[in-house]
Amino acid sequence: MSGTTNVCMNLPPHLTVREGRLHIGSHDTVALANKYGTPLYVTDEQRIRSNFAAYHDALTGYYDRVQMLYAAKANGNLAVLKVFADLGAGADVFSAGELYLALVAGMKPEHLLFNGSSKTPDDLKLAVQKNVRVSLDSVDEMMQLNEVARAMGTTVECSFRVNPAMEVPTHPKIATGLATSKFGIHAGEIIDAYRAAVEATNIVPVGLHCHIGSQILDVAPFAEEAAVLVKVAKQITDLGVNLRFLDMGGGLGIPYNHMTEVAPTPQEYADAVMPVFMDGIEKAGIRPELWVEPGRNLIGDSTVLLTRVNSVKRTHKAFVNVDAGFNLLARPVMYDAYHEVIVADRAEAAPAGTYTITGPICETGDILAHDRMLPEVSFGDTIAILDTGAYGFSMSSQYNSRPRCAEIMVNGGMEAPMRRAETIIDLKMTMEQLPWQ
Ligand code: LLP
Repeated sequence: MSGTTNVCMNLPPHLTVREGRLHIGSHDTVALANKYGTPLYVTDEQRIRSNFAAYHDALTGYYDRVQMLYAAKANGNLAVLKVFADLGAGADVFSAGELYLALVAGMKPEHLLFNGSSKTPDDLKLAVQKNVRVSLDSVDEMMQLNEVARAMGTTVECSFRVNPAMEVPTHPKIATGLATSKFGIHAGEIIDAYRAAVEATNIVPVGLHCHIGSQILDVAPFAEEAAVLVKVAKQITDLGVNLRFLDMGGGLGIPYNHMTEVAPTPQEYADAVMPVFMDGIEKAGIRPELWVEPGRNLIGDSTVLLTRVNSVKRTHKAFVNVDAGFNLLARPVMYDAYHEVIVADRAEAAPAGTYTITGPICETGDILAHDRMLPEVSFGDTIAILDTGAYGFSMSSQYNSRPRCAEIMVNGGMEAPMRRAETIIDLKMTMEQLPWQ
């Protein structure tokens, strides 16, 4: 299309610049910001669908028994969950809320796995009631689940999460398979856990679960994980357990820095993982379903966060004060995460200076992007923060009593809100009047 480009900053195909303005799908981001107000999360449904297809097709090219479980924590909006349900995905759910929303979205209970290292008795009861399998994190938890199922006069299918004791190249806060991590049971001890589960009256072990961490840009750790998984699976099979699924946990990372980071493709992931997996299940003499729980790779790059410039201040550096802070995007503060920034109104203008994008929160650390070369920025401009589809809105808060913003979905020529913005009145809706005030 003439007047269209996505060459600047290696933009993915759903992000383009037309007549100088950043577009998502066919939608002008500045027009969306004007129409719906800012801050505003905007997600492209078509991008989610193509990310899903790439991941799914790469795996099913090797094996026909693959079930995708979208990691609902990445973005739990019902509209998003419905897209994944429509694609045939289930979900990795980590709370009663995620479980409830996944079912409302139309996902099948048999395609859900209730994960987590600290579930309440009510959580366990909900899983049994809804016929959802549970990934257990300890023998203690297994005994409690057994008791819940016994009291309800039924049995429950489950897996244990194995801790593969692996160092992985990512931020330490999101490396979940370290030997020292709070998650899972070490490979050397897990057979005893399965033995105990086999003996328990109301528990049926049917799976094995693992997760090594998030935002990993190398396929080798996943291949190593697959090797642990199939090795442990063989031992469990030898115990007499009929393993119906092996779950690799979360998926590949994405390139947040579009100039310097390169992410492996889902095909490269499959090429590294699947031969190890196929060889391992053959040696174990089993044909379980392969479950994967990608979140970020499916939805991370589908979304931009649009935020308005309130003021520009030049002191020892140029600060751009915008209307979104770590209340809406916690990743930069929490993990020193990098997100690309575009001045949506003049996306192709030449850089004019170095700017630091700062939020409205009363903390010095409320910085969304440090020292970026950008075109001249001034009051009223719309700044787009890229790759905010995963762990963006889902980690938002009302800190500083700031209502959370709206989320919009675009899909081809269509656009619609998928969450209204909270209002200041909403802030007090859950607060109670004390009898003595
Ligand atoms: N499965 C389990 C059991 C998980 O704990 C996670 C993520 C996933 C799947 C999905 O992983 P993914 O495919 O998205 O990498 N808030 C952090 C990320 C935390 C990830 C926690 N677990 C961030 O913003 O980077």
